[in-house]
Parts: sequence; structure tokens; C-alpha cells
Amino acid sequence: MVDTSRYAAVVGDSHRRRHGQFFTPPGVARFMVDWVLAGGARSLHDPAFGLGAFHEAALRHACVSFSGSELDSTILNYYRARTRRGPSTLRNEDYLLAWEKKHDSIVCNPPYLRFQHFRNRKAVFSAFRRHTGAHLSGYTNCASAFLLKSLRELNPGGRLAYVMPLEFLNTGYGTQVKARLLAGPSSLIFIQLDCERDVFPDAVTSVGIVLFDSATSDERVRFYRVRSLEELEGIFETPPVTSVSRRDLAADQKWLPYLRPSRISVNGELVGSIRQYGRFTRGIATGANEFFVLRPSKVQRLGLDRAEATPCITKSKQISSAVLTRDDVRELTREDQPVVLFRPGLDLSKGAMAYVSQGERKQLHRRFLLRHRSPWYKGESRHPAPLLFGVFSRGGYKVVLNRTPALTLTCFHGFVPSLPGRAYVERLFLYLASSTGRELLAASSRRYGDALVKYEPDDLNGAIAPRPEVLAELGDEDVTNAVASLRCGHGVPSRIEDHFRMLAT
Ligand SMILES: C[S@@+](CC[C@H](N)C(=O)[O-])C[C@H]1O[C@@H](n2cnc3c(N)ncnc32)[C@H](O)[C@@H]1O
Repeated sequence: MVDTSRYAAVVGDSHRRRHGQFFTPPGVARFMVDWVLAGGARSLHDPAFGLGAFHEAALRHACVSFSGSELDSTILNYYRARTRRGPSTLRNEDYLLAWEKKHDSIVCNPPYLRFQHFRNRKAVFSAFRRHTGAHLSGYTNCASAFLLKSLRELNPGGRLAYVMPLEFLNTGYGTQVKARLLAGPSSLIFIQLDCERDVFPDAVTSVGIVLFDSATSDERVRFYRVRSLEELEGIFETPPVTSVSRRDLAADQKWLPYLRPSRISVNGELVGSIRQYGRFTRGIATGANEFFVLRPSKVQRLGLDRAEATPCITKSKQISSAVLTRDDVRELTREDQPVVLFRPGLDLSKGAMAYVSQGERKQLHRRFLLRHRSPWYKGESRHPAPLLFGVFSRGGYKVVLNRTPALTLTCFHGFVPSLPGRAYVERLFLYLASSTGRELLAASSRRYGDALVKYEPDDLNGAIAPRPEVLAELGDEDVTNAVASLRCGHGVPSRIEDHFRMLAT
């Protein structure tokens, strides 16, 4: 198998990004090839060949003839120079401009390029018009155009498997793709891969596999979600997250919600999203924690001005209560924990000047994040956030009411309330800490192997939250008592839990 990391190092990131070159992990490629060939076809086409992940997986099947298309001659030459067992047919061509071919089965990881970077889009759109009569939406991205074309090229009775970002299930341009997937009898399956997001770093939503079998007819479309490769292998032994009758599926509706139903259904009249109150943003990325994160004793040794050293939570474990108070930060300082961030202004004190020179001697100003800052030691601008949300968790997320001026690094996302949202911060905190809040937020999480759960700021911003009227119904005294209860580690009082239960139907 050709080494993908070596290739990446040789051509560099910008070449790979320009061509949408991200490589399918072998386990995913094997799963897709095995599923497609289980349909009985003896030939397989990969329209976006790259370094041949699917061809490699198909070598395990005897007597299968493999063909591929690849636009980029650099990757093709690299591949050809390093393998003796390439496919029988491998063309250096633009798949989107090479028409009039048919295939018994198709397997693909299409280039993921947003419509703005989809370079020959005009020529492709006019080719689609000429060959299919279809007018593609101007926002159609490259991967969706690949899928549409492949569906058209599949011979009757053929199977197709695509691994790609699933955002087309929710977007306007995806309507054409969904309509094509629903046209005529078939079996249609979507599998969201919570474990493989890194393969598609630019994808804004979920990544997953589309399986389409034109030989069989299943009235229900099945939606699955997997957290690991092992789960993928046994996927059809488990029930889908949802299966939806085709009669209830309209091409112009959003389909992503079928992949993330909450265990409880909500009363739509009582909820909106967290965005009603403000937004979460990620914590500060320093670019060199070993330089910018300091212990109080070091601040003294360096002779920094007070204004150059800001209190900052630098590790999740520094917060042990659901309410962070000034006393907690004083205690961390007394223990000489690393809870200070070096944040110099433009006028450096003598101590800061010497420390910056020390950093330069260590070549920190050449580091990736820092060389784009001016000056390199100028940190990201953030205000202390009144609510903190743990980025990673196992067995339940950490949400903290922050009563201090401390900033946080990337271990926490910080909530920046809007002007009207400020009045609701404590109530929102109680909702997030309640069991109803936890159930409803679970639908917005990303799940990785080993029960690790992650939230990105936008996952939180789009998550379900009660409408202001629901929060306002909580009396001030109840709120104060509940915050005190959480501060003492006693959990959310049952009165508050009961109040939020009204959100569920
Ligand atoms: C996401 S990579 C997948 C590579 C490989 N099949 C895999 O799964 O690891 C997509 C590949 O399609 C190629 N490509 C981009 N645009 C193309 C086009 N219009 N026609 C054919 N190949 C294209 C890229 O150069 C890249 O190698």
C-alpha cells in the first residue's frame, strides 16, 4: 500500500487541499468495498482514485476488475512509481467532464471542495445540463456533483458506496441529490462516522457513508451512527438510529436530524437554541503553553507587571466545583498552580521585555500560530466568560458558572452572553446542569472512541435551550438556592429538575 503520510509530506498541505486529497482509512475502505461487492458485481469503479485506498481493499477479492479516474497527475505519478499492482484501468481525467460511461458498482471518497473552490464549476455545470438536462444549484459542492454523476452512471442492479461530508442532507443544493437518491426503488442507508471527522477537516457537519443498492427495494431509509471502526464492522447487527418511510421523506427537508434524535422528544413551543442568549466561543489558544502559562512564583521571578499576568484556567481539572469563585482562584494561586497567562500589552515592562527575548531565543516567534500574530506574543482577545463548558468529557460534560475574572485556555468553551442574554446566565447554567439539559444536549455532541464526547462551540450554539419565558418562570430565590446547591456539590435541586422536565413531551 502506498504510504499516504509520505505523499502528504512530499506534496505539502496546499497541494492536497487544492485537490481535496484526504485519504480513506483502510478499515472504512474495506467496509465499503465489501458491501459493494456483496451485491455480486465483478467490476468496481473509483472516480477519485488518489492513492488507491479502495483498490487496495478490493485486492482481497479475487477476479474483480477495477478502474479509476484521477484528475491530479502528481498523485497519479507518485502512485504509479510506487506500486506494481495497480488497477487494470486508471485514467488521468476529470471525472466530472468524462461522460457516457456506465459502471456495475462504484465506490468513492470524492474530493471535498466548497463551491467557491470548485474550479471548473461552470464547465461541469454545463456538462451536467448537456448530458442530463439538470441545472445544478450554484452552491453545489464538488462531492455532491460526483455523487449525482455516479448515481446516473450506475448500471441497473448496481451498488454504490460514497464516504463524504453529509451536510448535503441539510442544504438547499442537496435537494437534487436527495431527490435522485429517492427516485425509483432501492435500498438507501446513511452511516454517520463519529470516529472519522479528522479525515475531512474542512467539513462543517457530519461525515458519513452513503450506501445505495439499486437491486433491492427497501421502503424505509435507514440512518445509522457509529463511534468506532469496530462498530462499523458490525453495523447491520445493530438497529439503526432511525428508519424512515420513504413516504415521509421529502427531498427538500433537512435529513440530518434523523441521525441525531434525542432520547426525549421536545415540546417545540417551549424551546429555541442557545443562540437566543449569546454564543459559545473556544478558549484561548496560546500557540506555546510552556511559555505563556505561568505559575504565580514565576510571575514574581520574572518581575512582570500585574497587567501583564492575567488569571487563567489552563486545565480542566483546576475546576472542581460547578461554581468557580474568587476564593477558588486564590487557592490555586496559593498552591502555585499554573493559573496565570502572560498577556503583555504593547508597552512591555522590563521583566516582560527580557521574557520576550527569552522566547525569541527559543524561536517561539517562528511557531505556526505565533508567526501570524503581530507582535508574536500578542495573545487572542477574550473577555472572562460567565459560563464555561468542558470541551471533552466522559460520563457527562462539565458546565461551570464562572464568578471570577479568570480567562480559560482551549479546555473550556466560554459563553459570551448577548445584552438581553445577560439576565439569563444563571438560569441557563441551571438548565445545562439539569438532567433534561444533559439529555437534550447529547443530541448535539460528537462521539469518539472509548466513550469520549466532544462539543465544538457551534454544536453548543445550535443546541436546544428553553425559551426565555421558561427560564423567567424560575424564581430568583430558587435560582440562588440551586446555584448554592451546585456549588456544594449537591446537584440540581428537584424543583429545578421538575421545571425543565416540562420541555419534554
Ligand atoms: C478525497 S481524495 C480520495 C482518494 C482515495 N480514493 C481515497 O479514498 O483515499 C479525492 C481524490 O480525487 C481527486 N480529484 C479531485 N478532483 C477530481 C476530478 N474532478 N476528477 C477525478 N479526480 C479528482 C483528488 O486529486 C484526490 O486524489
